[in-house]
Amino acid sequence: MDKVDLKTEADKALENAYSPYSKFKVGAAILTEAGNLYTGCNVENVSYGLTICAERTAITQAVAREGPDMKLREVLIANRNEKGVSIPCSPCGACRQFIAEFATQNTRVRYAGKSGEVTKSVSDLLPDGFSF
Ligand code: THU
Repeated sequence: MDKVDLKTEADKALENAYSPYSKFKVGAAILTEAGNLYTGCNVENVSYGLTICAERTAITQAVAREGPDMKLREVLIANRNEKGVSIPCSPCGACRQFIAEFATQNTRVRYAGKSGEVTKSVSDLLPDGFSF
């Protein structure tokens, strides 16, 4: 599945976002080291703090399907606001920590919008992240 276009997949995934409160749709597409694709979208809740980000819905699905040894090769995050505008938005702090849990030294995180795309390593996004 290496030829998969993660941007196209993340754009498709964000259409399923449940975001009646922020009206901000986010889609995440991940490629695992095993070569599989998983996608996710943000799922909000009337109790706002229960909201789950797109990155975490995609990663939890990957673990559920591949098991605890799942590793991320690439993560791509896309978004669209209620005006139809899409700019590259980096993952939130919680998602950075969540990505780091399943990352290797080679994992790449991309965030994309109409104006272009940014690619970062996990250590650039989360220097000095938490661990025991
Ligand atoms: N959101 C994500 O899905 N990923 C992030 O990394 C940051 C924020 C979602 C959560 C909420 O539904 C909406 O974007 C606005 O914060």
